Amino acid sequence: MQVVVRPMSEEDIEQVRTVGQRTWSDVASKDAGRKVRYPFRPREIIEAYRWKDPQGCLVAEENGVVVGSAFSHVWGGTGWIGPFEVLPEKQGHGIGTSLMQASESYLAKAGCGVMGLETMPYFLRNVHFYLRFGYTPKEMTFIMSGKELARESQECVRRLEIEDLGHCRERILELSRSMHPSLDLTNEVEMALNKKIGKCLVFEKRGRIGGLAVVHDFYPADADHASLRLMLVDSQSRFQKKIFEALLSACEHLVKEERRKRLFVRFSSTQSRVYPLLHERSYVLEGANIRMVKGRYAEKEGYSFAAWAG
Ligand SMILES: CC(C)(COP(=O)(O)OP(=O)(O)OC[C@H]1O[C@@H](n2cnc3c(N)ncnc32)[C@H](O)[C@@H]1OP(=O)(O)O)[C@@H](O)C(=O)NCCC(=O)NCCS
Repeated sequence: MQVVVRPMSEEDIEQVRTVGQRTWSDVASKDAGRKVRYPFRPREIIEAYRWKDPQGCLVAEENGVVVGSAFSHVWGGTGWIGPFEVLPEKQGHGIGTSLMQASESYLAKAGCGVMGLETMPYFLRNVHFYLRFGYTPKEMTFIMSGKELARESQECVRRLEIEDLGHCRERILELSRSMHPSLDLTNEVEMALNKKIGKCLVFEKRGRIGGLAVVHDFYPADADHASLRLMLVDSQSRFQKKIFEALLSACEHLVKEERRKRLFVRFSSTQSRVYPLLHERSYVLEGANIRMVKGRYAEKEGYSFAAWAG
C-alpha cells in the first residue's frame, strides 16, 4: 500500500486529532497495563502550528486515510519536531521514517542547522529510532507542576498585546539569541497572541524589556492547568533571578485569575538554577524527558527555556 507524506490541510485536522488520541491511548495503556483513554489534542493548537509552519505540519496518508502526523517548528536556525505519531496498527512499517525525513527536509530548507526533539528515555524503541537518524542525547528536560500560585500581580510585569508586538520584535530576537545564537522565538510569541492560545507577559524597567514569558491557556474550560511555554530572561542582566521570579509570579497570578489550579513548567536540565527555585516554591517533579539533538547546540546557562514538545 502506498503511503504519501504531504502538508496537512484544514480538512485533515479531525483525523490528525484521532491519530494522536488513538496513538497516545495505546502508549498509555501499554505503560499502565490497563485500558487508558487519552484526551483529544485541542484543535486550537493544531491550527496554531499550521499558522506558524504551514509546510512543516505533515500527514502520512494511506488510501485517503491519515495514519500518521508530524509537526516541525522553525525557531530561527534551530528547528524541532513534535508531536510525532503513527497509528498503533501502522507502526513499524516505515511510515515514521518517511515523516521524519520530510520534517528534516522542511527544517533544513528553512535554514535550521540545529534540529532536535524530546522523547521519553525509557522508550528504548523511540531512542533507537532517533539515534538511527543521527540525533544525540544532550540533556534532560524536566516537567514540574506548581499549585501554590502567587496571589499578587507584579509591578514591573505587563501583558504584551498583539498590537505592541511590532515594537518588541527586535528585543525578543535579542533575548532569544542571548539563550542561543541560532534561536529566534518571535514566531512563538506571535503564534500565541495571534491564534489566542496563550498570553505573553513582559518584564519592563525604565522602558527596557528584561524578559518575557508565554503561558499557554488554550486548554478546555474544564482543564485545571495552564503551561509555561516559554521563558526568556536577559542573560546579560545582573538581575536575572529577580526578573525570572517576577515573571513566574505574574504567570502564576494570571493562571489563578483564570481559576486554574496548576501551572506546568518544562525546562532543560542545562538551566540548573531553575529546579531548586521551583522546588522552593513547592513545585513537584512530574516527569523527565530526554532532548536529542543533531548539530551543535548548547544553551547559555541562566533562566531561559522553551519546550521542544507540543
Ligand atoms: C515513534 C513512531 C512515530 C515511529 O513510527 P514508525 O512508523 O513506527 O517507525 P518506522 O516503522 O519508520 O521505524 C521503525 C523503527 O523505529 C523503532 N520503533 C520505535 N517505536 C516503534 C513502535 N512503536 N513500533 C515499531 N517500531 C518502533 C523500531 O525499533 C524500528 O527500528 P528498526 O527498523 O531499526 O528495527 C511511532 O512508533 C509512534 O507513533 N509511537 C508512539 C508515539 C510516540 O512515541 N511518538 C514519538 C514521541 S517523541
